[in-house]
Amino acid sequence: MLDGPFSESIIKRAQDKGLVEIHTHDLRDWTTDVRKTVDDYPYGGEAGMVMMIEPIYRCIEELKSQRDYDEIIYTSPDGKTHNQVQANHLSTMKNIIILCGHYKGVDHRVRENLITMEISIGDYVLTGGELAAAIITDSVVRIIPGCIGDEASALSDSFQDNLLAPPVYTRPSEFNGWGVPPVLLSGNFAEIDKWKDAQSIERTQRLRPDLMEE
Ligand code: ADE
Repeated sequence: MLDGPFSESIIKRAQDKGLVEIHTHDLRDWTTDVRKTVDDYPYGGEAGMVMMIEPIYRCIEELKSQRDYDEIIYTSPDGKTHNQVQANHLSTMKNIIILCGHYKGVDHRVRENLITMEISIGDYVLTGGELAAAIITDSVVRIIPGCIGDEASALSDSFQDNLLAPPVYTRPSEFNGWGVPPVLLSGNFAEIDKWKDAQSIERTQRLRPDLMEE
């Protein structure tokens, strides 16, 4: 599930350029039984399986013996909802671990003792934390300086100023009778910047008024 997102496009290029290292680990490699068991029935008799603390503990301890980590993140719908500010903050860090939950979740002692931060990617439940981890990683890696060719491009993304990005157009300037806003063809960059700012504000007020209240 993680090989795809990490071996394509900008995230692949960032690794090829040496801007970031991404390592994925299978918790089964830190089990001790022949069946490589990572989950067990919950105490108290609820339905579903719970991820055991031992393989997680061993894995995290081994990784911590090799590097210092700024955050050890657990992906969970209970966590702080991910956003651009959080992505910017994580992108300034040197090393992070993202632990993907599965089944009913992890033994709560992992969350109490091993994890430093919980992140949700939205108010819905996924079958596992891998997709959440891929999304968090993508949002963090793409803004590492040098990752996107045009540096200004990451800064002009939606949300960087709590504003949605203005609309973008490319050739042809007219298609099917649908034209490009004339100001973009004017060559007057002061006017173009003014138009972009006004578009950002108008779109945010109309589509995401909650962002303007933050
Ligand atoms: N695991 C399951 N659901 C999730 C969510 N919404 N965010 C992060 N991790 C999750």
